[in-house]
Amino acid sequence: MSLRGKTVLLGVTGGIAAYKAVEVVSRLRKLGAQVRVVMTKNATEFVTPLTFETLANHPVVTDTFARPETWDVAHISLAKEADLCVVAPATANILAKLAVGLADDMLSTTLLAAKAPLLLAPAMNTGMWTAEATRRNVETLRARGAHFVGPEGGFLACGDTGAGRMSEPAAIVEAIEALLARRETLSGVKVLVTAGATREHLDPVRFLTNESSGKMGFAIAEAARDRGAEVTLVKGSTTAPVPEGVKVVQVVSTQELYDAVTSLAPEADAVIQAAAPADYRFRDVSDQKIKKKDGGALTFTLEETPDIAAAVGRMKRPGQVLVGFAAETENLLAHAEKKLASKNLDFIVANDVTQPGAGFNVDTNIATFLSAEGANPRPLQTKRQLAEDILDEVEKRLKGKQ
Ligand code: PMT
Repeated sequence: MSLRGKTVLLGVTGGIAAYKAVEVVSRLRKLGAQVRVVMTKNATEFVTPLTFETLANHPVVTDTFARPETWDVAHISLAKEADLCVVAPATANILAKLAVGLADDMLSTTLLAAKAPLLLAPAMNTGMWTAEATRRNVETLRARGAHFVGPEGGFLACGDTGAGRMSEPAAIVEAIEALLARRETLSGVKVLVTAGATREHLDPVRFLTNESSGKMGFAIAEAARDRGAEVTLVKGSTTAPVPEGVKVVQVVSTQELYDAVTSLAPEADAVIQAAAPADYRFRDVSDQKIKKKDGGALTFTLEETPDIAAAVGRMKRPGQVLVGFAAETENLLAHAEKKLASKNLDFIVANDVTQPGAGFNVDTNIATFLSAEGANPRPLQTKRQLAEDILDEVEKRLKGKQ
């Protein structure tokens, strides 16, 4: 694949595998990419900046406070310029810094500001790689959408044998090519995503809702954005950080979600409904806070809210792909199958929300894709990874309908 027109920002941190990053630069240049190298101070102890400078044909940045030749804010311009950020080798230290958002040198500062996808090629001692702290940092970064290549198992420079060897330059460049190619796959495609919980008010201070954090829908919106789609995210109440680079429409109740989605759906090529709308609302809503009744019972009547997915299913136009979710606590596949048919969906993502690591307000999920072709169970994976699987399926179906 030609990488002409692409700019890769390569961060090199201080590990013995830094010498292998030299070959990564050389391979990327041969494929036509522009490479901008940022080295940490420790990395310069292993390989000189001059080596990278010569191969990249561009000055290497090592110091946040160096006087620039041309006046711009270097870490911001580097961050904006990159189509992809790669850190190879990525030490345990940089993984920790990225996980918490530390910005104390040129590389961590640049990566914090960057919006481009991030690929990490870890390299460290097995004990460091398997340490609880590193495991958690890797999980955090994965959940945030970072991609990993390696590390591989084998003989390590410290004399140990085990996981921790940086992937070979050829494998790193292959991963870079795959990520850069993937960015284009939904370019020009309009994706409408719903996320979060709705609130059905009883009075100004009380409402009916559920535990949805928005993480699942946000992961889909981010993954679609990273594939170049034009994403509109209709969100109810959420606790997770709202994605950047997508159009956000805020709603409160299921009726508002219904109004927003049914007005936006005709424009969308794909509609993915990960929101958890309340199925019931209070028939009578009080304008004022309801007062206690001196021990008397409070009774109220609930009525059904409109079914958004079913309405979108009725207005489905040719070529459009509709995806729903099913959140179940029993008979997962049987209930999901009914929803697949009644909502006229192309496929439904069924999750048993009672399973540990699945459903509401966690970073992972366990799902089965159900469609006319049958059931496709997915493993326990991060919501971002599941989002990628959902989008692979959406892309296949969009192509099939052209
Ligand atoms: O947000 P998180 O904390 O990450 O949690 C993720 C999740 C558990 C919310 C998500 O994975 C999920 O399962 N979302 C669907 C929740 C839900 O409402 O499921 P349901 O089986 O009740 O509804 C089936 C489908 O119909 C869903 O696509 C839902 O968006 C839609 N629906 C439901 C009710 C309604 N009135 N109108 C609808 O369109």
